[in-house]
Amino acid sequence: MAPTNKPAKSKGGASPNRPDSAVDPAQVAGLLEESRQYLATIFATVHDGILVIDAATHTIVDANPRAVELIGCPKGKIIGAECHKFVCSADIGNCPITDLGQTVDCSKRTLLKANGEVIPITKTVASITLHGRLHLVEIFLDISGLERTEESLKESEERYRDLFENANDLIQSVDPKGHFIYVNRAWKETMGYTDKEIARLSIFDIIAPTCQDHCLTIFQRVMSGEKIQRVDVQFVAKDGRIVDLEGSVNCNFVDGKPVATRNIFRDITERKLVEKEREAWNRTLEKKVEEKTRHLKEAQAKLIQSEKMAALSEVISGASHELNNPLAGILGAIQLLRRSALSKPIEPALMDEIDVLENIESAATRCQKIVEDLIRFSTQSRCFFTQVDINEVLRDTMDAMMEQFTQAATTVNWQSNPALPRIEGDFVKLFEVFANVFQNAASAMPDGGNIEITTRLLKAYAKPQQLVVTIRDTGCGIPANNLGKIFDPFFTTKPVGKGPGLGLTVSYGIVKKHHGDIEVKSTVGKGTKVTITLPLRQPSS
Ligand SMILES: Nc1ncnc2c1ncn2[C@@H]1O[C@H](COP(=O)(O)OP(=O)(O)OP(=O)(O)O)[C@@H](O)[C@H]1O
Ligand SMILES: [Mg+2]
Repeated sequence: MAPTNKPAKSKGGASPNRPDSAVDPAQVAGLLEESRQYLATIFATVHDGILVIDAATHTIVDANPRAVELIGCPKGKIIGAECHKFVCSADIGNCPITDLGQTVDCSKRTLLKANGEVIPITKTVASITLHGRLHLVEIFLDISGLERTEESLKESEERYRDLFENANDLIQSVDPKGHFIYVNRAWKETMGYTDKEIARLSIFDIIAPTCQDHCLTIFQRVMSGEKIQRVDVQFVAKDGRIVDLEGSVNCNFVDGKPVATRNIFRDITERKLVEKEREAWNRTLEKKVEEKTRHLKEAQAKLIQSEKMAALSEVISGASHELNNPLAGILGAIQLLRRSALSKPIEPALMDEIDVLENIESAATRCQKIVEDLIRFSTQSRCFFTQVDINEVLRDTMDAMMEQFTQAATTVNWQSNPALPRIEGDFVKLFEVFANVFQNAASAMPDGGNIEITTRLLKAYAKPQQLVVTIRDTGCGIPANNLGKIFDPFFTTKPVGKGPGLGLTVSYGIVKKHHGDIEVKSTVGKGTKVTITLPLRQPSS
């Protein structure tokens, strides 16, 4: 049965000039037919299912093609059937409209299909009276597709949420005002804030003060549409820890307006720490290498020095031996000549010759002294070792120098150490070494200064104990280019005739004969440090 309704007004309608009583029945019939066709077309083609149900008997009196399709059985079986069999799953006597008085207006309900399947629908029910009886018009829309879409949307949302929540990287989304829209689990764990605290925070509350300006610029650039692939930033965690992060930032736009920035950060605090440690370690290594290189250079310089000195010693040994004999001869001859000259009455004419003789004698004596010094440095010189108290040697040397020190207002800092063991050494020769070192210090401080002497025992790994005497002065110092030459025979910076430049040469020879070492370090304008290292015992051979 096709539903009848009030006739719809056609566009033309009844003529306004003609009274109702004068309506043309044929025209009315035409309008009615037009209206019926209009409704029938809608009924037949609408995508919603439409059922017309007798309200008293709950019998389905009409169903449109879409309703038939959705119910899933021929129209013949639907018409005349009770709606509880299809459409509505409510029990007889429990009809939501007629029994329970509910209004159904686009409500989410279910449709019971002929095969027993239940599908989700939205339903609207309207009441109309047809042929004097109350009828219900049920209009329903299959929303199972929509629900499936919603379901898969939910699932995909769930998947993404799970992915974000379980990511190890810190993920955050921030609104244009800087408030947090979303942060993931790793973010909360790293930063230590609760959901409540996060809700009150602004991104700028957690950016480290040193990064604020840099981050504000980035934020503005991202909000204006720029994608930033690499950002380095420092956040401050709730407990004050600085968290180093690196990551990417971009912004989500809706209708051209920025709605949220999205950031994925990796916590690189640990990596930065390791990098810092590695850098510190590299610096330490570099220092060690530098130190080792310096030690190697020093050792090399020492080796060159000792090889040079050994070679010099050989040469000087031979030369001094060759010079010593003729010098002794010259001096002997001079003494003979003087004795014979003095045995006769001295004529005034001979006085000049005696003067010349005396000059020759003093020059020869000076030469002999030099030759003796050279011999003391050279391999020929011998040491006579006894048990020596180094405190005593130092005291005697200082006593001998005291007058000179007092005159130049030079102070000496030294405390003899009674705990020092005696060493095997040549007292006289060691006296000579210290005398020369003190003499050099005094010459370097003509206007006074300070000399500091320290003594100590040194125990190096796998080596016998040694005694170390350090003499430090506050004199003029030695220029670096002279340091390599100070042990060379005849190297001197003293004026001609003041010193032959043999003091350190002889000292070097003596210390080496004690199987010890002498080392000089100096800074121009600050002073010089001479370190003499002596073994406690001499090798038995
Ligand atoms: N403590 C020092 N301060 C500054 N320069 C020094 C010091 N010790 C040595 N020198 C330098 O080393 C040079 C050589 O010293 P060395 O003792 O061998 O000879 P000298 O003192 O010049 O002469 P000599 O000792 O034969 O009288 C000195 O001339 C001086 O330039
Ligand atoms: Mg000297």
